[in-house]
Amino acid sequence: MTSEVEHYPVLHREIVDTFKDIDGNIIVDATVGGAGHSYLLLKNFPEKKIIGIDKDEYALKRAKERLKDFEGRYTLVKSSYKDIDEILDKLGFDKAHGFLFDLGVSMFQLKNQRGFSFQRDDFLDMRMDKDQKLTAYDVVNTYPEHMLENIIKKYGEERFSKRIAKSIVEHRKKRPIQTTKDLENIIFHAYPRKARYGRIHPATRTFQAIRIEVNNELEELELALKKAIERLDKGGRIAVISFHSLEDRIAKNLFKEYGKLKKIKNLTKKPIVPKEDEIKENPPSRSAKLRIAERI
Ligand SMILES: C[S@@+](CC[C@H](N)C(=O)[O-])C[C@H]1O[C@@H](n2cnc3c(N)ncnc32)[C@H](O)[C@@H]1O
Repeated sequence: MTSEVEHYPVLHREIVDTFKDIDGNIIVDATVGGAGHSYLLLKNFPEKKIIGIDKDEYALKRAKERLKDFEGRYTLVKSSYKDIDEILDKLGFDKAHGFLFDLGVSMFQLKNQRGFSFQRDDFLDMRMDKDQKLTAYDVVNTYPEHMLENIIKKYGEERFSKRIAKSIVEHRKKRPIQTTKDLENIIFHAYPRKARYGRIHPATRTFQAIRIEVNNELEELELALKKAIERLDKGGRIAVISFHSLEDRIAKNLFKEYGKLKKIKNLTKKPIVPKEDEIKENPPSRSAKLRIAERI
């Protein structure tokens, strides 16, 4: 084990179960990350192969290390999952038999100097793809106040979005807001005094909102899920693990819509959530929700 934090694959037993009985061997891990899930799938199913996608170059480096015992059974691609159809075309696959989306950021992204976390003091970056131009710094320092307010409200579901956007704009007039701690501090003081010490830290929702904006997360997710459903072979399964209500709603609504079109059968009327023992071992799994559908 390296000195860096290992990512613990969320709902790993349930994911292995999901792909246990599918016909066909090609599974697309659309968010391969540190390859925690892919490793388990390759280990448990010797006949299966993985196409692992990630936007983050560093994640792919880690995935390659993790999967070193399975040479020849996996292909790693640096891309957004929104281009899942082009990726399959390029690799010569018409259909896949499984798709896995494990959304959000991984532990190693949070613990490295990537600007995702207000627990650390880093440059306000938040890009998953380092080749992309737009950073959190740009969003925070250049977006007009009304856009900031909208983003924080919509993507953060933050009730104090107006106060936070106003305070950001006031502060950046004096000097640019450079780091995660600068931003955390501004948000904390923009909160009404009485609300500052609630269940979650005041900066949590705003950081989520800015991350979603920087990485265009919701649009890309919707596009990718639609493409994945179309490219899923009959009897194949798609699994989506989400960590907040906006992502979960996208999966839920699409499964409903494609269910009505008789393209898929929803296998989880209610999402699967981690059991007590998993939450104890891995507290961040607490908010995970898994939805599974099968192509008909
Ligand atoms: C929670 S982690 C996945 C962890 C992985 N399942 C494991 O077991 O190690 C999510 C990963 O998705 C990647 N990601 C986020 N948005 C993406 C996108 N649009 N396209 C491709 N990868 C994306 C992130 O870079 C991150 O590595």
